Amino acid sequence: MDPLTRRDFARGAGLATALSYSRILGANDRVGMGFIGLGNRGDQVHDAFLEHGDAQTVAICDLRDDYLDLAAKKSRGNPTRYKEYKKLLEDKTVDAVVIAAPDHWHALMFIDACHAGKDVYVEKPLSLTVVEGRKMVETAERTKRVTQVGTNRRSWKSYMEAAEFVRSGGLGHVTAARCFHIHNEWPNGLGPGTGGRVPSDWEWDHWLGPAPYVPYNANREFYNFRWFYNYSGGQLTNFGVHYMDAIRWLIGQDSPRAVAAIGGQFAHIKDNREIPDTMQVLWEFDGTLVAFEQYNANSAPGSGPSCEIELRGTKGTMYLRSANWDVVPEKVSDGYVGYNHGHGYGNPVDRSHGRDVDASRHALIEAKSVKGAKGGDTMAHARNFLDCIKTRAKCHADVLIGHLSTSATLIGNIAHRQRVFLEWDARAERFPNNSAANRWLSYQYRAPYKLG
Ligand SMILES: NC(=O)c1ccc[n+]([C@@H]2O[C@H](COP(=O)([O-])OP(=O)(O)OC[C@H]3O[C@@H](n4cnc5c(N)ncnc54)[C@H](O)[C@@H]3O)[C@@H](O)[C@H]2O)c1
Repeated sequence: MDPLTRRDFARGAGLATALSYSRILGANDRVGMGFIGLGNRGDQVHDAFLEHGDAQTVAICDLRDDYLDLAAKKSRGNPTRYKEYKKLLEDKTVDAVVIAAPDHWHALMFIDACHAGKDVYVEKPLSLTVVEGRKMVETAERTKRVTQVGTNRRSWKSYMEAAEFVRSGGLGHVTAARCFHIHNEWPNGLGPGTGGRVPSDWEWDHWLGPAPYVPYNANREFYNFRWFYNYSGGQLTNFGVHYMDAIRWLIGQDSPRAVAAIGGQFAHIKDNREIPDTMQVLWEFDGTLVAFEQYNANSAPGSGPSCEIELRGTKGTMYLRSANWDVVPEKVSDGYVGYNHGHGYGNPVDRSHGRDVDASRHALIEAKSVKGAKGGDTMAHARNFLDCIKTRAKCHADVLIGHLSTSATLIGNIAHRQRVFLEWDARAERFPNNSAANRWLSYQYRAPYKLG
């Protein structure tokens, strides 16, 4: 990689065109990868990139030394170790970065990475707020970066087949979709939030980043930050964004036009969580009602066993279970339903003669069952990113796709926290019927952090 080109990128001036960049990194070149955040997910994504011979781990960054030790050991090389991600972004051996820090860091790290001329794989949800997400889209476009958001179902073959099936009308008109986050966390949940490894002041400050300062509490840190709104949108943006992304893709729509949500901490789980344990969110898309159902104090299935997403079409229902899916046909009638001009259903004389049953109902489609790769596949998502770095094509889940899916879930949280029904103007990315709710589309960063 030409260092001058990199410096030009870092200054944000004289940006190389996509074409000239692709000439720099040819089809047979190895991509120098930098990893920011090597916890639970960062480690998994690192493993996925290590499966590809043309990805080389050249730099790693985390607040924790033990996570850096493990990543360095796995890397099959001698990556440079960083505690500050901005230093990693100055590293000229890094062509592309993976950002797997907590959600409240995504926007800052992503925008800085774009300005430093790195292509970016950023974990889902794309952002903590809608305004951040839009800024990320604009920055990636302006700096001509290749981007991939970690909604990895977009790269699963079985999901591609499901999308093809639904979008070509296989289910008829999909009038409703439901998705679920189900897990019984009652009675003790996350626990008291004390004990374990206490971070240094420097580390806690760098964990909090742009979020408001609060004294250290173990529940707010590793993995558990998902239960607190300053760092995450809860399960709605954690699992929910995977499902929303898939539903948008399958039904072929960009954005909802209205959202409502209701729920709360009904089970009084004994921890300091902020997110609800029980909630339902409803979005109105054009001709499709979408629901997210979160039951975290009871684990009975919401639909079929292990079903993550259910799509109800006029001709059939699709049940998606991780990488597998089934279609169960509907039976439709050639005639009318209901009280049929004085005959059949509802006519007690016909009923007494057994003539109220509509025997003409028949299926218009066949049952179908597709088995995907076990446990999904982050490798394919990583492969798609590496290929696009070289061709400069758009990735399966580029930043705009990630933004539309993330913002749909973020507005669900705003409706829930404001206890209101919200219309959504997707073009303006504003709520036309509620100015108070518009204030929740962004937040004030803690000094000295600023959205670039
Ligand atoms: N695509 C998926 O299926 C999937 C699965 C799990 C998590 N995720 C996403 O991955 C992200 C991380 O989640 P996780 O479960 O790995 O959390 P985690 O707490 O296990 O890991 C986060 C890591 O980021 C590091 N970090 C925090 N601030 C940092 C900073 N300023 N500089 C460098 N490193 C910093 C932490 O030290 C930690 O190791 C979240 O956005 C989450 O939504 C995606």
